[in-house]
Amino acid sequence: MTELRFPDNFLWGAATAAYQIEGAARDDGRGESIWDTFSRTPGKVHAGHTGDVACDHYHRYADDVAMMAELGLQAYRFSVSWPRIQPDGTGPVNPRGLDFYDRLTDALLGRGIDPIVTLYHWDLPQTLQDRGGWTARDTAEHFATYASAVHTRLGDRIGTWTTLNEPWCAAYLGYGNGVHAPGVQDPGAAFTAVHHLLLAHGLATQALRAGGASRVGITLNPADVRPADPNSAADADAVRLVDGLHNRIFLDPLLVGGYPDDVREHVARIVEPAFVQDGDEKIIAAPIDLLGINYYAPTYVAGRPGGAGGGGAYPGTKGAVEFLPPVGPLTDMGWMIEPAGLTRLLERIATDYPAVPLLITENGAAFPDKAAADATSPTLDTDRIAYLDGHLRAAHEAIARGVDLRGYLVWSLLDNFEWAEGYRKRFGIVHVDYLTQRRTPKSSARWYQEVISRNGL
Ligand code: FCB
Repeated sequence: MTELRFPDNFLWGAATAAYQIEGAARDDGRGESIWDTFSRTPGKVHAGHTGDVACDHYHRYADDVAMMAELGLQAYRFSVSWPRIQPDGTGPVNPRGLDFYDRLTDALLGRGIDPIVTLYHWDLPQTLQDRGGWTARDTAEHFATYASAVHTRLGDRIGTWTTLNEPWCAAYLGYGNGVHAPGVQDPGAAFTAVHHLLLAHGLATQALRAGGASRVGITLNPADVRPADPNSAADADAVRLVDGLHNRIFLDPLLVGGYPDDVREHVARIVEPAFVQDGDEKIIAAPIDLLGINYYAPTYVAGRPGGAGGGGAYPGTKGAVEFLPPVGPLTDMGWMIEPAGLTRLLERIATDYPAVPLLITENGAAFPDKAAADATSPTLDTDRIAYLDGHLRAAHEAIARGVDLRGYLVWSLLDNFEWAEGYRKRFGIVHVDYLTQRRTPKSSARWYQEVISRNGL
């Protein structure tokens, strides 16, 4: 294979999220989140797993940061748990919650690692859910207050702020098909949540700017939506519909200035869109400095009368669209492995939404890692290395084609709580033994360390 070099200043790092790694669910005044409630509800998460202990990162962060430094990471994307900062989602700030992120930030900076904050990675305070969660407009306003509390404490040291992680998942999986917390199954609620999440992003962006933040962005999981048959007009229509519901419903209000007409009409057939108020789209379209892209797998669709549709995750596609079953090779999540999808996706976004620099904020894979012969040897995860290598080549190809891609953050640093799948899916480049909390870098971590040190493959 040819050697590839990435641009100078290309940023290499890893990502995690609060609920997936922190544990310490009852420490230092943390409130309950919707993921606490959801994971304790029988039947919602594999084997009843919860994030109560997770990787115990809350207590082990110093060692974890030392390990990141040893691996040569230049950046670390973590999320802040809203219920640690405001246990009830509103009202007084809990200083002990902020203290944790203060310590973490200083530990990172002390090792020369650039902290990238995500303010919302799905752990909404349960109290706010009891008042409607993301279907309630207030939640967006409360989010801005919370964002500014975090910025007030950490803004002097953290340069890059992202508001939301994957609002698609938060809205459609949380309120549409109910596979994620809070487990609501209501297509109208899903669209309402989309809008309030976007509004929350806009209001938080205003609050962060008012506090002096200079780099503000958001992370989406845009889909590379492909037609089953590139020559079929019906499939092209299906692509347009699914692209509207997954991509343009977020990208257009954020980067163009408003919802696209076709999406607006589709939504209006499902729910009265009174939740979009005058002025909202202007707030949502406030300029951002970077767009985070999470990519794992492509989505193939066909236009078919009577098609099964995408369920609550794609409201209104039943009877018109067939989502094709993934074709191997697959990861342990059952997701297709198609690096070319990443090149296509990055190029498409750079073409259609040219004003904003891109950062890959997540990419990686779960595989059924074979246990090493003894606890101290690294897991030989060659399939993960192949996945990462392929996707880095695909990212490099996008750069070669002119995409302004600034960096790559692997998902994930550690094996962790993979939402509804619990701990059975392992995405880490570092193995976690959940009984002892011992961390052991896998072969992929050593491979990644090499990639970083040469800035290339
Ligand atoms: C993304 C999430 C992240 C992780 C990966 C596998 O959708 O943002 O928390 O679960 O998928």
